[in-house]
Parts: sequence; structure tokens; C-alpha cells
Amino acid sequence: MEIKTKDLLGIENLSRREINIILDTAETMREISERAIRKVPYLRGKTVVNLFFEASTRTLASFSLAEKRLSADSINLSSSSSSVLKGETLLDTVRNLEAMKIDFVVIRHSMAGAPHFIAKRLKASVINAGDGTHEHPTQALLDLLSLKERLGSIEGRKVLIVGDVMHSRVARSNIWALKKMGAEVSLCAPPTLMPYKIENMGVEVFIDIDEAIEEKDVIYVLRIQKERQKGGLLPSLREYIELYCITPERLKRAKKDVVIMHPGPINRGIELDPRVADGEHSIILEQVTNGVAVRMAILYLLSGGKSGEVAEE
Ligand code: CP
Repeated sequence: MEIKTKDLLGIENLSRREINIILDTAETMREISERAIRKVPYLRGKTVVNLFFEASTRTLASFSLAEKRLSADSINLSSSSSSVLKGETLLDTVRNLEAMKIDFVVIRHSMAGAPHFIAKRLKASVINAGDGTHEHPTQALLDLLSLKERLGSIEGRKVLIVGDVMHSRVARSNIWALKKMGAEVSLCAPPTLMPYKIENMGVEVFIDIDEAIEEKDVIYVLRIQKERQKGGLLPSLREYIELYCITPERLKRAKKDVVIMHPGPINRGIELDPRVADGEHSIILEQVTNGVAVRMAILYLLSGGKSGEVAEE
């Protein structure tokens, strides 16, 4: 089975069938990273530009590794190392890159909609690696893969997303993704960090974390995004820690086998206690491992590859 779209811009417009194709392909790709020689020829001759106009560790590194493991040629550009610094527009930048004959642009940008804007104007496939507070589709897909690996299935699972929902593209993509896969999604945040009318997305909303935590299969902790806060949304970090930090004491109210997730980077001791981040319930590093497999799957499928045709060693 294959994916018919040119680009991967968000989860909102993906069908459950398309998500399943990506997850099935990623499960096959995961095995390639376990081999002695972690390289296959599926993207040989293809060129990828990773255009990161915001900081990244996990997403940039895992796209770069995915491209190398698929034998693509790739380069990385950032705003501080490109002519954006001299005033060149985003559109001029990508048109100049396309003039050099490229097949993919992987873009992270602070403006919501930037990947959609360039996708309409380029023949190359565009992959959204995070656009402002809008979407982070590859994060949600690696989260689904990690949950499937840990729980077997996602259908009917109760997932609580906690923290800075207001500024979180990860939350938005995960709400779409989890609901499409049949999970029950709840959110918990201080009222100032909860988007207005978010319950219209079909989620339950909590203010009290100790109430929200009960009976959940998964607690997905979000980073407090200090860089996107315009000020005044949190009286103090000390109060946030007191009321919302996921600590071992707080976790006693949760199910015994609750799963803890976080997209990274973690503000240790603010949204997540280090004992929980590194504890037995945490699958945070499995999420990172699965990031490479998911990004390999997306690059492979968008280049015309078919799920089920990835060769075993
Ligand atoms: N989760 C995530 O997007 O991490 P980076 O910002 O390090 O890429």
C-alpha cells in the first residue's frame, strides 16, 4: 500500500488508513537501525534539504540519520547560516534550493503554515518538522508508534496530555492522531495555558491534575514553552511546579502500569520530575528511537515506496 500525497504537512488531513500505512512501514524500518550495516538503498539518488529555522536536536538529528540510512544525499540549513540573515524571503530561499534539483524539503519554522505555503509552490515534497504552534506531524506519528509498541493497540486507551497546551504543536498533532486511532483524549493545564473552546476537538478538559490523572493509561507531559510565552500566563514557575509537575508522589494516583511520555526537550523539575522522566514508566527514549524509523518511513513512502515492499535482511 502507498501514500498518494506529495507532502506531509499535518495530521489533521491524514486518514486512519494513511496513518496505519506509515506505522506499518516504520515498524519494518525500525529493524534496519538494528543491523550491523544500517543502510538501505531506497532513496539513492534523491536529495533532501533540512531547512531548520528554529532550534532542534531530536527532529533534525533523526531526519538526518533517516536520510543517511536510506542512502539519500542531504544538507542542513539554518536561519543563522543561510541568506535569510541578509533578508532573503522564505520563498526565494526554497526556489533557489529547488533550482539546484532537490527532491525533499524538511522544514521547521516559527510561522504556522510556512510548510503549506512553500508546498503549494514547489515540485519537491515538503515535510513539516514543526510550524509555530500549529502542527508537528512526525512527532505525533512517532508517539503513536511508541504507544503501539508499548501497549499493543491504541483503540480505547485513555490518554492525558498535560501542560502548556496553548503553545503546543505537539498537543495539536497528537489530539488529531490519537483520536483518529480511537483513543480517548483528555487535556489538563492551568486555564491560562488552555486554548479557548479546545473541547470542540472532542477532548475532555481538566484543571486539577490529581483528578485528571486517575484511570489514564498514558500521561503525555508537554514542555513549558518559555520562548513562546508573551508573559503573564503563569504567575510563577514555582506555582506551576507545585500544581502540575508530574512527581512520583502524584503518580501514586495513576494506574500501576501508566505510561509516561514527553516529546523533549524536558525542563527537568518543572513539568516533569527527573525520577519520573528516568523511571520505570517512562518511554521517552523509546520515542526518540522511533523518531528515526518514522522519518525513514515517511521519506520512503513520499518517494513512491510501498508499505510491505521493504526487504528483510
Ligand atoms: N520533540 C522535538 O521536536 O524535539 P526537538 O525540538 O529537539 O527537535
